[in-house]
Amino acid sequence: MPDAEEARALALDAADPLSALRDEFLIPPHGADEQAYFCGNSLGLQPRAARAALEEELAVWATRAVDGHFEGVRPWQDLPEQLAALMAPLAGAAARDVVVMNTLSVNLHLLLAAFYRPRGPRRAILIERGAFPSDRHVAVSHLAWHGLGEDALIEVEPDAQGCYSAESFAEAFTRHHGHIALALLPGVQYRNGQVLDLATLTALAHRHDAVACFDLAHAVGNVPLRLAAWDVDCAVWCSYKYLNGGPGAPGGVYIAPRHHRRPHLAGWWGHARTTRFRMAPDFSPEAGAAGWQLSNPPILALAPLRASLEPFARAGMPALRVRAQRLTGHLDALLRAHAAETIEILTPADPEQRGCQLSLRVRAGHEAGRALFAYLLARGVVGDWREPDVIRLAPVPMYNRHTDNLRAVRAIAAWAAGGDVA
Ligand SMILES: Cc1ncc(COP(=O)(O)O)c(C=O)c1O
Repeated sequence: MPDAEEARALALDAADPLSALRDEFLIPPHGADEQAYFCGNSLGLQPRAARAALEEELAVWATRAVDGHFEGVRPWQDLPEQLAALMAPLAGAAARDVVVMNTLSVNLHLLLAAFYRPRGPRRAILIERGAFPSDRHVAVSHLAWHGLGEDALIEVEPDAQGCYSAESFAEAFTRHHGHIALALLPGVQYRNGQVLDLATLTALAHRHDAVACFDLAHAVGNVPLRLAAWDVDCAVWCSYKYLNGGPGAPGGVYIAPRHHRRPHLAGWWGHARTTRFRMAPDFSPEAGAAGWQLSNPPILALAPLRASLEPFARAGMPALRVRAQRLTGHLDALLRAHAAETIEILTPADPEQRGCQLSLRVRAGHEAGRALFAYLLARGVVGDWREPDVIRLAPVPMYNRHTDNLRAVRAIAAWAAGGDVA
């Protein structure tokens, strides 16, 4: 007989038609049970349809070999454009402004090679303090490439709660007016889960004549994006987190139409598709963001994305966002009711300023945090740990349930009580 909280969680799941999406995913086992998987912000789960999508391409390779590039139901040369069309609505962009290629850090290098053009005193890159390490490495290596040091990296500090305020970005732009060439900022900050206001940040960057470039690794498929309407210059994202494209799946890039013809690093696959195979020495780029491709596309890595993006098109981001806010709100409320003495929630409480992820700091410190994290894992509650003291839990609308939230919070409460409750 479920108690009142269990009954409520079960009822919330039963009342939401989107709960059925869970059946389309392979949920990792935990003994005879299933994991309560809260790690979709790191690696999304495998859609059941991914295997068939991959096997289809293996069959084309087996039966058509080289002709697979041009023949069959889905010639390989068309796959990147088809995936761009599926991804574009998630970015709030036209398909021709999106390209699916490479991986996030590689794409960020390609964008900075084209967009970061230090001139005279305007040479700084603005980033948030505590940015994802790869973003910082990319930024610092471009500074070095141009003969500049880390003093040209402006790192905007978070407030005492670890959040980034619009005022602190405005203050940094004003203080360094005339010196900032490019801002590289996240859509959702990876550590604290805060959603940044990209429209405001873009307007701010433009007011100070800087390029607005965003890392949307934790934003795409998590929160609705409107890159075109927000006037963003360029953006990158990966597709193995909320987009469930599989480990190391190729990433996405957005390039505003006004920048398509900007000088950029080129490769043969970016050449106009109608004349690509003439192998002429001159580079004549394909229209749109597709002209920024370098190499022929990794079909076996792209294939699962066909399967993983389809449910987004079917369910729609607005409906997924409603479910996500409900699920995250439920987890937040349970944590505040049962674990407030054990953990502090670092993610903003305002539902508009967070996506799926809640970042939790264990009040008793690093060692206790590690112990709690291990305790949760042993009970099939899978989040992730970010040094020095953060546990991230992300109930994602595609496959998490309200009952997963309850299981996680009950495990935290049981650990705090020193008990060994399953
Ligand atoms: C916020 C953020 N940026 C960049 C990356 C790096 O992505 P990749 O390894 O695909 O280059 C990650 C990976 O987790 C990330 O979370």
